[in-house]
Amino acid sequence: WKTLDDMELNGKRVLVRVDINVPVADGVVTDDTRIQRIVPTVRDILAANGKPILLAHFGRPKGERVAEMSLRQLVPALETAFGTPVRFADDCVGAEAEAAAASLGAGEVLLLENTRFHTEETKNSVPLAQGMAKLGDVYCNDAFSAAHRAHSSTEALARLLPACAGRLMQQELSALEAALGAPNRPVTAVVGGAKVSTKLDLLGNLIEKVDYLVIGGGMANTFLVAKGIDVGKSLAEHAMTDTAAEILNKAESTGCTIILPRDIVVAEAFEANAPHQVLPADQCPADAMILDAGPESVAAVSEVLENSQTLIWNGPLGAFELTPFDAATNAAALKAAELTRDGKLTSVAGGGDTVAALNASGAAADFSYISTAGGAFLEWMEGKALPGVAALVR
Ligand code: 3PG
Repeated sequence: WKTLDDMELNGKRVLVRVDINVPVADGVVTDDTRIQRIVPTVRDILAANGKPILLAHFGRPKGERVAEMSLRQLVPALETAFGTPVRFADDCVGAEAEAAAASLGAGEVLLLENTRFHTEETKNSVPLAQGMAKLGDVYCNDAFSAAHRAHSSTEALARLLPACAGRLMQQELSALEAALGAPNRPVTAVVGGAKVSTKLDLLGNLIEKVDYLVIGGGMANTFLVAKGIDVGKSLAEHAMTDTAAEILNKAESTGCTIILPRDIVVAEAFEANAPHQVLPADQCPADAMILDAGPESVAAVSEVLENSQTLIWNGPLGAFELTPFDAATNAAALKAAELTRDGKLTSVAGGGDTVAALNASGAAADFSYISTAGGAFLEWMEGKALPGVAALVR
């Protein structure tokens, strides 16, 4: 595919698909990693005298104009990050957007409203993409983390204008390829988070590719249930236990060792600082829920990491947003960071929650590479073609 270096940008309106789907609380961006990482693309376009026009989604509004999902609220954070004025258009297509794009001044950036306010966006509608294409002369996709979606702004639009990859897209693909294209073995994957159902295909595919698979978070509970263990009030997907059992069986035949929690931290309420105790994994009381993995589990993960050359991490090991149930995630992250610092491990992490957890523990700085992507990172790891990347290759 082409990069910004291959495009004529002087005086051109450059439609840049970015992923600024960042966490916001009370109107304040709580983790601006994704915003910081698109700065080089915007700066390079401005430096070449191009006019960046940003297209992005925010949340999952399903075609409704949901006020809390307006991208207008990100204008101040973007202006700070880019150090340049950011104008805003209330829609990503139509007369107002076209007028704003046409009158964009030198050194200015235009942000268009949430593409998902149009229901056609997620259907990869060509007419919607044609409306977007009217706003620009060149298309640049810098949203690796949304590249697993075949949507109008990530796929159809790339086929309507001269298209290229942005700096972050280039960096993500080359860093992942360098670390994980032909990984040094043993390879360990740590996969956590709430639901097995959203990562099912991934788990099934991963056990064929990795030597150790550490399963954590709410997802681990479903596997405990599959092993006949009562998990009390814990989050678990009881409808998925047969599938979890199949994954456990398949892992045995592929030689992948699955690591489930040996001990658990349980509490009666899903609250920060809820009274809690550490118990063996098969002894969760009926009125309690598992909120974290215990110290023995952390020791087991640490041992696996010490025996590994490559780590792929997506998803926290416990309810990391509630102290002290972030303990297992933090301890394992710091262990991985230490091994990476000592040159013994190549560590790659991705996913919004994971990056927030690694930032909070202070481990992120020592990881070999932090991807801005969650779902796209996982699909890349599975070896699936990403529609947003495929559309750039012409
Ligand atoms: C993400 O946050 O992983 C990306 O922005 C994609 O969001 P989506 O899962 O709502 O498509």
